[in-house]
Amino acid sequence: MASSRLLFFLYFLLIQLVALTKAQQPTVEPKMSYHDCVGKGNYTTNSPYQANLNQLLTSIYTNTAIDYGFYDFSLGENADRVQAIALCRPDISPGVCRACIRNASDSLVRLCPNFVEAIGGLDNCMVRYANRSISNLMEKGPYFWVYDDRNNVSDVDGFNRSRMTLLGNLSDKAARGDSRYKYAMDQIDAPNFQTIYALVQCTPDLSASECRDCLYNASGLIPQCCEARQGGRVIYPSCNFWYEIDRFYDPSANAPPPPLPPSPSSTSQGKKSNKSRTVIIAVVPVVSVILIICICIFLRVRKQKEEFEGKFRGFSLMLAYFLKG
Ligand SMILES: *[C@@H]1O[C@H](CO)[C@@H](O)[C@H](O)[C@H]1NC(C)=O
Ligand SMILES: *[C@@H]1O[C@H](CO)[C@@H](O)[C@H](O)[C@H]1NC(C)=O
Ligand SMILES: *[C@@H]1O[C@H](CO)[C@@H](O)[C@H](O)[C@H]1NC(C)=O
Ligand SMILES: *[C@@H]1O[C@H](CO)[C@@H](O)[C@H](O)[C@H]1NC(C)=O
Ligand SMILES: *[C@@H]1O[C@H](CO)[C@@H](O)[C@H](O)[C@H]1NC(C)=O
Ligand SMILES: *[C@@H]1O[C@H](CO)[C@@H](O)[C@H](O)[C@H]1NC(C)=O
Ligand SMILES: *[C@@H]1O[C@H](CO)[C@@H](O)[C@H](O)[C@H]1NC(C)=O
Repeated sequence: MASSRLLFFLYFLLIQLVALTKAQQPTVEPKMSYHDCVGKGNYTTNSPYQANLNQLLTSIYTNTAIDYGFYDFSLGENADRVQAIALCRPDISPGVCRACIRNASDSLVRLCPNFVEAIGGLDNCMVRYANRSISNLMEKGPYFWVYDDRNNVSDVDGFNRSRMTLLGNLSDKAARGDSRYKYAMDQIDAPNFQTIYALVQCTPDLSASECRDCLYNASGLIPQCCEARQGGRVIYPSCNFWYEIDRFYDPSANAPPPPLPPSPSSTSQGKKSNKSRTVIIAVVPVVSVILIICICIFLRVRKQKEEFEGKFRGFSLMLAYFLKG
């Protein structure tokens, strides 16, 4: 009797605790996985730089035109010019990406008050801003690592070899991406019946060789960050990798991305779009003629429908018309 009363009391206590943590959850702000307030100088509160920074970050996480998870925006002139880059994990939806960028931007601005340059991220995205040009630029620092400190692997050498093979292959594959997507994900069988899953990514403004170099250097940090660990990430401003022994990514994002739409800005592609316009001009009348013929046939067939007693419909009707004629 006494023990069941004690059990009930413990159960009641547990319910209260759960309710308490649930009630407190909305006030808990997302914890940045990593960040650095780069010591390149400060802006003053309420300055045009601050206004531009806030407006720029808002324009990124409210942008619904970009669906490939890479944003490279700038705002302002001269000393008040801010540039910001945001990069999302490739296997999440644009909506989840924007929510992550919003949280990361808010936290970064709060964690780095008045810093002209900063970088930080959550699990799903990275955000950085500066008062200098940061596009098409492979940045060598600052870098970060985040690891999973559950059990360590037993066969470190074997695990290390498999992990290096996988990361090497993925880096080559990511480097071959286009100006919107440079990422790759895959798995490899490691010793002791383990499987290693990995995801690597470059900001797509890098060239193929810059992307490969950046990921090569990032893998070089494994001995410091996560030699024996079952999971880990290294994040550079221009590239990152992430591995785990569980499938942490969505493999359906592995499908080849849609082809790059022709951009009217470059001259060689301008020619291409002229060509496709010519093709459209030639195709439109042909399609119209076929359509008119089809309508005529359809109307004549309908007229003859009363005489026609078969059960044929649609295409069979047209076929019957041709046989008769
Ligand atoms: C960025 O801001 C810092 C601090 O105000 C300043 O010293 C530096 O010259 C600025 N850099 C550029 C490229 O404007
Ligand atoms: C910028 O401000 C922070 C405090 O907000 C301070 O720690 C840092 O030294 C300042 N940096 C410069 C270059 O003034
Ligand atoms: C953003 O923060 C809110 C509140 O702190 C949290 O509920 C939400 O899950 C976070 N979203 C992301 C994508 O981090
Ligand atoms: C895993 O190995 C690292 C050193 O590589 C050590 O610092 C850490 O405590 C180990 N973790 C566990 C859970 O054994
Ligand atoms: C893991 O592989 C890297 C690259 O091949 C090498 O530099 C490192 O020493 C290896 N570590 C272990 C523990 O085998
Ligand atoms: C990596 O590439 C090498 C050489 O192209 C190939 O033999 C190996 O099977 C690949 N490994 C994985 C995990 O794709
Ligand atoms: C990679 O490391 C080499 C040697 O330390 C260095 O020269 C190069 O600049 C680094 N590149 C990046 C992207 O960090």
